[in-house]
Amino acid sequence: MNKLIEEAIVASKNAYTPYSKFNVGAAVELTNGKIITGVNVENASYGLTNCAERSALFSVYSLGYKQGDIKAMAVVADTEGPCSPCGACRQVMNELLPKSCEIYLSNFKGDIKRTIINELLPFSFGPDDL
Ligand code: THU
Repeated sequence: MNKLIEEAIVASKNAYTPYSKFNVGAAVELTNGKIITGVNVENASYGLTNCAERSALFSVYSLGYKQGDIKAMAVVADTEGPCSPCGACRQVMNELLPKSCEIYLSNFKGDIKRTIINELLPFSFGPDDL
């Protein structure tokens, strides 16, 4: 788990954040041991920004992995407390992560909150509701 957070911190250095200067790193651990990272990538048209969590998860799926291949996820930023994913990312995490996925929210100071998606997005709207 510390390695996953460490990888997210390393990845956060690659964030493209000329506007907010707020770097976020995410790391997804697969059941095969591989770790896939993602960062926030901003845009001059601000609304087109992609958050770190979604960058990481889209990479996981782009590489051909699926929900069942995912074990854990970490999200890190230079925040006062553990970095909390935005609402859009929670919605995407709800759809793409397995329900049991261990989620570690952390910061550069070493604070860690362990959670699960149902805690981050209770009473969610998802694929089963269609
Ligand atoms: N950001 C993330 O990458 N993840 C979140 O869950 C919250 C926000 C990014 C988007 C933007 O580049 C910057 O942080 C400030 O909002």
